Amino acid sequence: MITNAAIEAFRQIETPFYYYDMTLLRRTLAACVEQAQRFGFQVHYAIKANDDARIVEEVRRAGLGIDCVSGGEVSLALKAGFDSGKIVFAGVGKTDKEINLALEAGIGCFNVESIPELEVIDAIAGALGTRARIAVRVNPDIDAHTHKYITTGLEDDKFGISTRALPQLFAALRASRNIDFTGVHLHVGSQITDMKVFELECSRAIEIQKTFTDNGFAVANLNLGGGLGVDYYQPDINPVPQFDAWFETIAEHLPAAAGQTFHFEPGRALVAQCGSVITRVVFVKRGLNRTFAIVDAGMNDLIRPALYQAYHKVENLTGSGPERTYDVVGPICESSDIWGEQIVLPEACRGDLFAIRTAGAYGQVMAMPYNRRPFAKAYYSDEILK
Ligand SMILES: Cc1ncc(COP(=O)(O)O)c(C=O)c1O
Repeated sequence: MITNAAIEAFRQIETPFYYYDMTLLRRTLAACVEQAQRFGFQVHYAIKANDDARIVEEVRRAGLGIDCVSGGEVSLALKAGFDSGKIVFAGVGKTDKEINLALEAGIGCFNVESIPELEVIDAIAGALGTRARIAVRVNPDIDAHTHKYITTGLEDDKFGISTRALPQLFAALRASRNIDFTGVHLHVGSQITDMKVFELECSRAIEIQKTFTDNGFAVANLNLGGGLGVDYYQPDINPVPQFDAWFETIAEHLPAAAGQTFHFEPGRALVAQCGSVITRVVFVKRGLNRTFAIVDAGMNDLIRPALYQAYHKVENLTGSGPERTYDVVGPICESSDIWGEQIVLPEACRGDLFAIRTAGAYGQVMAMPYNRRPFAKAYYSDEILK
């Protein structure tokens, strides 16, 4: 909920900017930790969702680990004070430099996505005189029924190892000299709100795990990835995602072996709802059949609608007139730079402040200076609402 006090504070700030509700962030992190503790689950925040320093600091304080997908993210997590043992490192294209960095830092686990990667990690660990803890990312081949650009667990996706390649993988693991196999990693996709998808993940996990144990590889750690979705349509009604339903589904459908630990890597669910892009109406322009509210935030600030046709709720924070219908668009010279078509909002005037909600995940991290626009700054509720 964007309060009146916040709107008053926004009036003094140059737009566009990211606004983070730190109270909601803390509430969300606490809900996740509380639910995870019920089942003894370990949670690693997928830092790719938002690596803003204040956000990352709150995650660290909440006691979570970190899921990284690049050497840059591993360095950032270490600099932010995360225990290296709580860092997991996924990604299909880890370079030698990144593998070296992660091994030297002693990270908790590499989530290995191919046999060539396994061989390279083995060789680099040998050269460094160390050992690499790894989990194997197996492709669960589940359709998460989400956008094709955020579905990552289908058999022919570039991520993970197909179950059909497991015999070769087992041979590679047996031939390795400097690898400690610790478990299996699965990730189905993102923005999943149907718990049946996670139920399916559980049944695939059981099958996959059996293949490993039958081949002599005990799965001490089972990482079930991230993917829990958020309510982009009603952010004020459902500000905190269903961590309870997610973890309960897993606990109910996936029995843990003795001594086994389950791990999770939520990104979006932890940070999406606490962030909004705050933008001003630059012009209201009447077209032939539609009226455009042209705002100063564009796809350079938040690319999700242009990249994934993603929906973000748009609100007129300062308008109080009768409702009218608008196409809300950004200033970028691309036709896809649209926040929403035919949206009903209180009458918009030049200078009105709009909020683009649920922008805390995959927003600021993907910002770019296209059209020579400056990066939007971030402001935090506990700093501007003193
Ligand atoms: C391997 C892996 N883990 C975790 C995540 C985080 O996903 P989400 O933000 O949907 O929770 C992703 C997202 O792409 C991923 O690829």
